[in-house]
Amino acid sequence: MDKIVSLCKRRGFVFPGSEIYGGLSNSWDYGPLGVELKNNIKNLWWKRFVQTREDMVGLDAALIMNPKTWEASGHLNEFTDPLVECKECHTRFRINEHWSDKVWWDLARYLAQESLSSKEREEAVQDALKVCPQCKAKGKFTVPKNFNLMFKTYVGVAEGKADTVYLRPETAQSIFVNFKNILDTTRKQLPFGVGQVGKAFRNEITPGNFVFRTREFEQMEVEYFVREKEWKKWFEHWRGEMFEWIKEIGLDTKSIHEYEHPEKDRAHYSKKTIDFEYDFPFGRKELYGLSYRADFDLKNHEKASGADLRYTDVNSERFICEKCGAEKLFKYPPGVSEKIGGARAKMSSMTIKPGKCEKCSGKYVPENKFWPHVIEPSLGVDRSFLAVLVSAYTEEPVKSNDHGPGTEMRVVLKLKPQLAPYKAAVFPLLKNKPELIKLAHKVYDDLRKHFLVAWDDRGNIGKRYFSQDEIGTPYCITVDFDSLKDKTVTLRDRDTMKQKRVKIDDLKEILHRQLFG
Ligand code: GAP
Repeated sequence: MDKIVSLCKRRGFVFPGSEIYGGLSNSWDYGPLGVELKNNIKNLWWKRFVQTREDMVGLDAALIMNPKTWEASGHLNEFTDPLVECKECHTRFRINEHWSDKVWWDLARYLAQESLSSKEREEAVQDALKVCPQCKAKGKFTVPKNFNLMFKTYVGVAEGKADTVYLRPETAQSIFVNFKNILDTTRKQLPFGVGQVGKAFRNEITPGNFVFRTREFEQMEVEYFVREKEWKKWFEHWRGEMFEWIKEIGLDTKSIHEYEHPEKDRAHYSKKTIDFEYDFPFGRKELYGLSYRADFDLKNHEKASGADLRYTDVNSERFICEKCGAEKLFKYPPGVSEKIGGARAKMSSMTIKPGKCEKCSGKYVPENKFWPHVIEPSLGVDRSFLAVLVSAYTEEPVKSNDHGPGTEMRVVLKLKPQLAPYKAAVFPLLKNKPELIKLAHKVYDDLRKHFLVAWDDRGNIGKRYFSQDEIGTPYCITVDFDSLKDKTVTLRDRDTMKQKRVKIDDLKEILHRQLFG
């Protein structure tokens, strides 16, 4: 990790946040190359999951929402971590992170007894947690408190309860709150999903491991709305899609492990959650999550807001058997379903006869309004960024051209070309030859209209190659004296280090093909 953090600082991927003021605990700023890599990840995700899918639309909602949102979503009450502080060194710990599940659950169950005296509580905590992981002090813990992870702030000038708002802890809720708007404006029919990329904020007790856990981060989330009976099928669909995505950004699937949360550890809204864990240098940790949120969110927002957040099935009439719950879908006669938007009135005059239940002869009753169920693939941008860097970072011995015989190490980021900040770098062979500079600049300017391209005329060519390898630039283009005669250049491949002569006129096409297939 140290090597990656140092490379990120040295080459402008990630800087410590507010550095000149001594930083701010585990906050990070993405530098000129970092912002490109991060944007490339987000753009690839947006293209793959929103723009190229017929069943998806996008959203970019406000970060600060009406605080009733967080009451209805359960975040005000449930989005908490158990926290203790060591009275000796004043370090705070999330119990569920530093002690085993069993220790925490046994303690939590014990402390839940209201009849306990404060002495009994105090003793139970010291018995269970024993030694401070930081300073090794014994028996110095505070009694655990539940700590809400949402950042509180105020709107307007007053700082009272009425003006309290929260920075969103997940992007998901604005999708649920906009469900009706999206339905009304897009006329999407189930199954369909809404994707959103944006910032989320959590007052994490123990941020750390570079950009892995921070208090301000970005998520790429899909809320995918389905019929309840189809949730398993769509859960599997998104599970597969997440694997495809992991491959697309160049992570080795052998480093990915699925972990299904036991019921007691699931978030309050979830009926099933799988984490996709990745072998980071600091251990196997959650990269992404996939949850089945059922109809928890839409139902609760409807209850709290009074807005009708049910989905109306316009193309088929759904009937449920009163006796056994069997479902039957009535298909409109040909030609009717297309006009159905304006023809709901007609429905009453149409004689829909679902007949008796085939299973139990019970009576079918119509049910065409319901809360769709939700499958949620939730991906962290910053964790994607880190995993991409970790898996792309390579050190390999190469024959040294510059320092006589022998080998030296080159650091190369073997990024997928689509993700690389620069797609190519252009070099004039020599810095002091105006005719070379002129032609190289023309190549650079022409390519820059289509791709992000670097320019480098410092030092020798070997050093320039190494410098571009270190930031993952897939191709280096050198303009030399032959270029002046035959309008060709040397194209050098980052991974193989092989070089070939290509025509200047073909460069755009070659790069395009290599980048986008
Ligand atoms: N809407 C569901 C949700 O937010 P989550 O598992 O809490 O679920 C989803 O978060 C993803 O967001 C995680 O898998 C991770 O990639 C990212 N994430 C969560 N907390 C983070 C943090 N403090 N710093 C960086 N990324 C984080």
